[in-house]
Amino acid sequence: MREEVIENKKLKTEPNLRDYKKICETFSWKLAEKEVAWFPNKKINIAYNAVDKHVKTWRKNKVALRWIGKNWSPDNPKKETRDYTFLELSLLSNRFANILKKLKIKKGDKCFLFLPRVPELYTSFLGIVKAGAVAGTMFAAFGPCGLKDRLQNSGAKILITNGELKKRIYKIENDLPDLKYVIITDGKTESGHRFAEIDYRKEMNEASEKFNVKKMKPDDHAFMLYTSGSTGKPKGVIHSHKAILVEHMTSKWVLDIKDGDVYWCTADPGWVTGVAYTIFGPWSNGATEVVYEGRFDPEIWYSIIEKYKVSVWYTAPTAIRMLKKAGDVYKKYDLSSLRHLCSVGEPLNPEPIRWGLRAFGLPFHDNWWQTETGGILIANYPCLPIKLGSMGKPIPGVTVGIVDDNGNEMPTGKVGNLAIRPNWPSMMKEIWKRPKKYKSYFKKNWFITGDLAMKDKDDYIWFIGRADDLINTSGERVGPFEVESALIEHPAVIESGVIGKPDPLRGEIIKAFVILKENYKADKKLENDIKLFVKRRLAGHAYPREIEFVKALPKTKSGKIARRILKAKELGLKIGDVSTIENY
Ligand code: PRX
Repeated sequence: MREEVIENKKLKTEPNLRDYKKICETFSWKLAEKEVAWFPNKKINIAYNAVDKHVKTWRKNKVALRWIGKNWSPDNPKKETRDYTFLELSLLSNRFANILKKLKIKKGDKCFLFLPRVPELYTSFLGIVKAGAVAGTMFAAFGPCGLKDRLQNSGAKILITNGELKKRIYKIENDLPDLKYVIITDGKTESGHRFAEIDYRKEMNEASEKFNVKKMKPDDHAFMLYTSGSTGKPKGVIHSHKAILVEHMTSKWVLDIKDGDVYWCTADPGWVTGVAYTIFGPWSNGATEVVYEGRFDPEIWYSIIEKYKVSVWYTAPTAIRMLKKAGDVYKKYDLSSLRHLCSVGEPLNPEPIRWGLRAFGLPFHDNWWQTETGGILIANYPCLPIKLGSMGKPIPGVTVGIVDDNGNEMPTGKVGNLAIRPNWPSMMKEIWKRPKKYKSYFKKNWFITGDLAMKDKDDYIWFIGRADDLINTSGERVGPFEVESALIEHPAVIESGVIGKPDPLRGEIIKAFVILKENYKADKKLENDIKLFVKRRLAGHAYPREIEFVKALPKTKSGKIARRILKAKELGLKIGDVSTIENY
């Protein structure tokens, strides 16, 4: 294979990590500790680092959040935009922390957010963490099934949502004994539910804007995100306050955030990127950020870049492919403010990078990490050549290995399990209530990521695929088991097997093989009905775009669905060892 390399000469400002090799040799996390804010006695608060520390500096009145509502249009840009300075974010989150104090929320209590990308999402998130509680987020596309799993397992005491989304909670309220309060951001509260509803606006008006931020130990829990595995229910990944060390440093090294930048991360805070690289790392570096509430739309996205002079842009391969598909639209806009582009979440093939060069005169810099890693661990840096198709190199302070199934390191150039030496500061602290699952990540002093990769002679890491059945559709992790569980709730379905099928736009789409009950007819109408059923119950992003009705499913002798066989058949690949498989 001929390697295609971009020298990264187009950078318009000095990169933060000038000499990668030298920094790697001299760096230790002790040095990073000097870059973030501490309280006496080695106490810290990640939310204080994101906003409050700036209030004591010239950044006090700097715009931190430039919010753009979903009805925004370039013809009427003043409508539906709101700016928040670091001071305003600090005071609003203080008010919210005082609401939690009034509700007697204690250190470690779980408070969940179920909101679209509205300003209240960001201010409440910060308020929860400042109060010493644990903030959790759920993507607004989740339906009752997806919500129940998350709220039940976390034992969340508080949920912050809006008048529209709360209706999905009503459907599952009897299954949520721990949920005491539901705070409604935008309207009337109702009584007669198992929890008390609280009027956000009224309470915010009455709350004091003074709050003594809780001083936490570095390992105390700060936030959690549910993420899918290849088996079982979603996992509650817990992160601590010291995750800020990785998120702060990588926002400098990888995203290259500078004070003059306008930064836009297109990820939703329902996923880890929208938390670590909207709320924590870039704000900790004092960035002005754009947040757009609306959905993907090439014209609107380009208008936002043009109008608000976005300079650093962090997005995902599916979005880049969709922009590419939209063709020459970009030519109508002045996008010259852009100076640094990054991408995460799925493999970034060479073609979208080449397209980025043609459209913006800049390459997208791929980087790799996971919900469990709490921050970027492998990246293409502004200061290093990009080998197209590679995820780049480890961040300083982190050791990456390629290991076999027993945890032994493999030679250069060989494909194996992508593994990280444990205990980087943003490594997950727990899988909530599942200690065995947590332990299962570690082997011979390596953290096993579940990805397969290869390291080349220059220490660039190349993504090969997943070692398990996990699906990555449009950069979002979906567990086949969750989709199968939702499918069998449908009255026509006896059993199903779910796989990720390669797709040119979305990376993968979810495909379900379904066995129907006897009296049901396998036709288009039923197919659409099943799709809609899963979409409504589980989540808008996690339904099967393709359904194939089958008479039998391949199974292991212990009765598990052999997804590997389904996938091999779908792709027309060799089926491999079938000594333990039935019905294939
Ligand atoms: O399989 C890898 C893929 O996404 C997984 C992590 O998903 P999640 O926890 O949702 O976090 C996504 C955003 C940080 C990984 O195990 N993945 C992530 N980045 C890349 C990637 N696959 C290929 N290339 C990447 N750059």
